[in-house]
Amino acid sequence: MLKSPLLLAATLAIGSAYAQTPTKPANTAASASVAPAAQHFTQAPLPYANNALEPVIDTATMELHYGKHHKSYYDNLNKEVASNSKLASHTLPQLIQSISKYPDVVRNNAGGAWNHDFFWATMAPDGQRGEPSAALLKRIEADFGSLDKLKTEFNTAGGKQFGSGWTWLIVQKGKLVVSTTPNQDNPLMDVVKVKGTPILGNDVWEHAYYLKYNNRRADYLKEWWQVVNWNEVNKRFDEAMKK
Ligand SMILES: [Fe+2]
Repeated sequence: MLKSPLLLAATLAIGSAYAQTPTKPANTAASASVAPAAQHFTQAPLPYANNALEPVIDTATMELHYGKHHKSYYDNLNKEVASNSKLASHTLPQLIQSISKYPDVVRNNAGGAWNHDFFWATMAPDGQRGEPSAALLKRIEADFGSLDKLKTEFNTAGGKQFGSGWTWLIVQKGKLVVSTTPNQDNPLMDVVKVKGTPILGNDVWEHAYYLKYNNRRADYLKEWWQVVNWNEVNKRFDEAMKK
């Protein structure tokens, strides 16, 4: 149906107004609160290709894990920022360390965002992984007896974690300790039982392994050690021991 000349003129005027680039942002409550919040916490790029950890971590799992699960934690955290602008005055580590002040939705999504950032950097492609440093190995032998015994304790803890969660190697008062957390909690949070500085952590949510390993979490935990980025873990250990 043809528009009347008057209606056509009005339509063009509205279209023209939307097409113009405003010289300054519209000063409305909606644009003032939503626009900055949507960008406040930003998911960093995956530090390697989706297929870089094959065959231990399959490409399809990595695509979903980084591109859907991890992204959703950031998206949901930014939605909370949009409705509570006080959150925007904190960094992600600051939120994590005082997480008891915030509702569960912030705890879960801030935890999910931080934990996965930490997790991606805990792994590396072949040729970039390195080995445990002499200083780290000495500490591992003092606290666990050997690297193999550490792996066994870590994997056993990860296997026993009921439902979704994480297993960690943390520095606590100058010593290494294995711990677990449920859901997206981590050892930096002020709400967890076993606190410390994490230097290595594995995601034992089913989304981390189910496509390739199905219900065999123990197999995933065992194979996962092949992709550990010891160069990064050594660096974290050195930093944690200075605290
Ligand atoms: Fe995950």
